Amino acid sequence: MANKKLRVLVAMGTRPEVIKMAPVVRALRARPDTFEAIVCATAQHRQMLDQAMAVFDLKPDIDLDLMAPGQDIYDVTAKVLLAMRPVLAERRPDIVLVQGDTTTAFTVALAAFYARQRVGHVEAGLRSGDKFQPFPEEINRILAGALTDYHFPPTAGARENLLRAGYAEQNVLVTGNTVIDALFQALPRARAEGDVAGLRLDPSKKLILVTGHRRENFGPGVQSMCEAIATLAKTREEIEIVYPVHLNPNIKGPVFERLGNLPRLHLIDPQPYLPFLALMDRAHLLLTDSGGVQEEGPALGKPVLVMREVTERPEAVDVGAAELVGTDRERIISGVCRLLDDPAHYQRMASAGSAYGDGTAAERIVEFLATKLKPAS
Ligand code: UD1
Ligand code: UDP
Repeated sequence: MANKKLRVLVAMGTRPEVIKMAPVVRALRARPDTFEAIVCATAQHRQMLDQAMAVFDLKPDIDLDLMAPGQDIYDVTAKVLLAMRPVLAERRPDIVLVQGDTTTAFTVALAAFYARQRVGHVEAGLRSGDKFQPFPEEINRILAGALTDYHFPPTAGARENLLRAGYAEQNVLVTGNTVIDALFQALPRARAEGDVAGLRLDPSKKLILVTGHRRENFGPGVQSMCEAIATLAKTREEIEIVYPVHLNPNIKGPVFERLGNLPRLHLIDPQPYLPFLALMDRAHLLLTDSGGVQEEGPALGKPVLVMREVTERPEAVDVGAAELVGTDRERIISGVCRLLDDPAHYQRMASAGSAYGDGTAAERIVEFLATKLKPAS
């Protein structure tokens, strides 16, 4: 009798989950004799999820289509949990893979636990040590971890966090971050296409690429970030700023209101991964509160100024590739100005190196699964 294939349900809800799970799906599908991969989109994000999927030629096998404009985390949690019940009952996966710290990741893991199915957690073990930073992600990843059978931390530090929490060593595998796999896979295409979001950028200017969307920064934090960006745009003629604005209305509203119509500042829609990579590649520095950008920036040799008070990604700060500047207007401005005015400081950050893996994270995860989940013949 032929061996039964291992059925792996790969869950993804938001843009970064697609980017970080695409290499895993690809690695699973490269071993069709061993694995059947089912892509399950909760579609906690809609346009941004579809945009990210298209780049990797991914199509959901199951699309729960749950996004509603202005949804809050109660809505997403409740809807994902209920929608996953029939999916897991019908598909009966051998394992459910979730990624990171979104509400999709936590809630799908909870649904799999209720269905008594195994869970693998990609990008496990990140901790800021502060329950509210980021909110709700710090608690989402702790809860996802509690529901997980196999943990895939990206770094040795994340592994230590898991071992300290009492998880068994044999179920914890350091893999690197799959975002580096995605980056390596997509960068040659981004460079070949050379599309920087359709913008005609001034080659004589230093490009600052901005992203921001964290919930704990809504309100005063976003206002203060916008004030800093506005001051930089008005006072530093040698720079050009590109800011693809997240679709969350709590971000989009205030950002367009405060930063519309400023010189050398382009507010644009969220970009597909390839033009966004091309923008990062072209940038002088990155100003962000995004998790993924903190990992990608150092791999591209771009200094990252992190607009947060704490980070669960300390490795980039420790090697000197990233610096925490918080959301205080003056600290953001002085962080940017120092990079613009002090070439030695810029060079140190730009050449500090990457801390998030070698682009083989997905292979490691898939090999581990193949070994651990030997199918019955
Ligand atoms: C979510 C995740 C966050 C992750 C981020 C990546 C949670 C609680 N938050 O935050 O961890 O870092 O995604 O970007 O899981 N919207 C659209 N179209 C889209 C996407 C969002 O219109 O394609 C708008 C909708 O009004 C939606 C709102 O943004 O209701 C918020 O989306 P949601 O997924 O709840 O939170 P994010 O802030 O995107
Ligand atoms: N990204 C993108 N288009 C954009 C902005 C970001 O493709 O306009 C990518 C970015 O390269 C990274 C990921 O989206 O891989 C980060 O997503 P986000 O900042 O929304 O979430 P986080 O990483 O903070 O969870």
